[in-house]
Amino acid sequence: MASTEEEHYRRLAATYERNWADRPEYVEWMADRILAWLSPSGRERFVDIGAGTGLFLRRLMEHASAERPIVCVDPSQPMLDRLPDDERLSPLRATAEQIASGEVALPYETVDAFTFKESVHHVRDIPQTLRGLAERLSPGGRILIVTLPPRLEYPLFPAALDRFAERQPALEDLVAALEEAGLRTECRIEEYTVVIARDQWIDLVRNRWMSVLSSFSAEEIEDGVACIESRHPEEILTYPDRFGFIRGVRA
Ligand SMILES: C[S@@+](CC[C@H](N)C(=O)[O-])C[C@H]1O[C@@H](n2cnc3c(N)ncnc32)[C@H](O)[C@@H]1O
Repeated sequence: MASTEEEHYRRLAATYERNWADRPEYVEWMADRILAWLSPSGRERFVDIGAGTGLFLRRLMEHASAERPIVCVDPSQPMLDRLPDDERLSPLRATAEQIASGEVALPYETVDAFTFKESVHHVRDIPQTLRGLAERLSPGGRILIVTLPPRLEYPLFPAALDRFAERQPALEDLVAALEEAGLRTECRIEEYTVVIARDQWIDLVRNRWMSVLSSFSAEEIEDGVACIESRHPEEILTYPDRFGFIRGVRA
């Protein structure tokens, strides 16, 4: 992991879950959508890549057990340190690339589902990594990617939106990568309407809750906040949070 990203998640780890604490219904919604896209049958072998603090794994944990825990892969130890202490979760410090290449071994010979929830954009060579992971899938196994599209409708300042778009993989490229890895692929946008107090939103921006915000200096963030305040005089902000859900299934 690049040192700026590592630093970003080290700094963010302590407050990561607090960012969502006021929005439990959003966390529930996302956990439900992930479960619906995976539709697990019985106890399966799950590997969550870029698992972070495991915030969205609650529903999936109902389909795991101490014998078949969800392997939570993440290169950031401070994020993994905040996983719930639960025998159905098994932390593994590694990158997606290290798992795909076999440099870091998984406890499972084959995997029924790999999930990426807002972590695929951190992967350097996405096609090669997805190919490596696809080779580990059991028949009927799937890779589920949940990711923001490059163009966001968040009430951020323009430079942040543009830089985010430059760094974010296009959904069609992710679909192509899964297809090239030999998987039958489906992609759909799922949307959640966010309603948040403007002051709380500005706190999130100042706390650089998105990794792209860590690439701006303190002065640039303050200029950005001034821009948000002038564009959004309303006390309550409402915006659509749109996620690409992309599932590749092995025949
Ligand atoms: C935005 S967080 C998402 C965490 C969690 N999936 C969630 O939705 O709450 C992105 C996570 O990806 C991890 N990450 C960064 N580079 C990675 C890589 N190369 N492979 C796997 N995970 C990576 C970060 O450490 C971080 O925990």
